[in-house]
Amino acid sequence: MGEVILKTNDLTVDFKVRKNIFGKADRLSAVQNVNIEIKKGEIYGLVGESGCGKTTLANAILGFVPITSGSIECFGHTIDAKTKASEWKDVRRHMQTVFQDPYSSLNTRFKVWEIISEPLYIAGERNEKLLCDRAASLVEKVGLSLADLDRYVFEFSGGQRQRIAIARALISDAELIICDEPTSALDVSVHSQICNLLLDLREEFELTYLFISHNLSLIKHITDHMAVMYLGEVMECGATEKIFENPACPYTEALMSAILEVNPKKKRERIILSGEARSPINPPDLCRFANRCPKACEFCQTSPLPPFAKLSEDHMARCHLNYK
Ligand SMILES: Nc1ncnc2c1ncn2[C@@H]1O[C@H](COP(=O)(O)OP(=O)(O)OP(=O)(O)O)[C@@H](O)[C@H]1O
Ligand code: SF4
Ligand SMILES: [Mg+2]
Repeated sequence: MGEVILKTNDLTVDFKVRKNIFGKADRLSAVQNVNIEIKKGEIYGLVGESGCGKTTLANAILGFVPITSGSIECFGHTIDAKTKASEWKDVRRHMQTVFQDPYSSLNTRFKVWEIISEPLYIAGERNEKLLCDRAASLVEKVGLSLADLDRYVFEFSGGQRQRIAIARALISDAELIICDEPTSALDVSVHSQICNLLLDLREEFELTYLFISHNLSLIKHITDHMAVMYLGEVMECGATEKIFENPACPYTEALMSAILEVNPKKKRERIILSGEARSPINPPDLCRFANRCPKACEFCQTSPLPPFAKLSEDHMARCHLNYK
């Protein structure tokens, strides 16, 4: 694995939502003090239940939502809440995205070559032949044919549209590709094809992926490092193998217990979490999982989350249990 290409330092994103009865805007805490490190050439997984802030974290890295506090070090820049748009533009050209839903993320009125080459067009390239040639150089790499370049996006299936989206992500020679649940809107029959395509392209183009998914088996299978998020906070992070082997936070344990294991020796007892997740609006300064945690003690209900404990090389968790 190569050098660190992206590092977040206490990255926090709050959204101002409706005003409360005192006329003050409430704070929705979507991402709180997140510290992750992504190394060149790796696949970094991000997991956690719906609403825990995975997409917001990705959007903050891409500059699509404003940072409230903290910073991002990437591609020779340090980005924070005060960073100017021109600097963002320079950082963003190193990154591209593959979104969850290729039905809504691609403009169906465009031809395939126009969609694939759009990032170059946005960057100012107006030579149509060059744009078309660049699209042609990628279309077969993602499993489509040259004849497809002149067809409209609405003529393609979901899996084919995702292949178009992947070619589009590659055209500007981005180094980091952020895949936000790239298979979850697709028919299950094409999940493995799209994943295998992404893995092949990583080898060929020396790409790095931030890979967001609800599918823990997939995360286990393809990622090198991962972070587990709950209500905006990272609870556990490190080498994927170590986390799956020995989850150190009860929330990670509950997530992992839901995986279907073929090997009977590795089967865990399923942990069913009861209760509702807390509201992300003005959350108390406690472990955000405390009201559902099967192992919560009195301390968890009264004290803020402790700092990360280093459990082994490349494995950290933030839980009171690790300090007992
Ligand atoms: N623009 C916004 N304004 C206000 N709240 C927002 C905004 N975007 C996201 N949120 C809130 O931030 C929290 C995190 O949302 P986010 O979409 O990042 O979750 P997620 O982990 O990606 O969920 P999913 O797995 O369902 O995609 C949620 O409570 C969501 O309602
Ligand atoms: S800090 Fe306490 S409540 Fe939070 S996950 Fe650990 S044991 Fe559970
Ligand atoms: Mg999301």
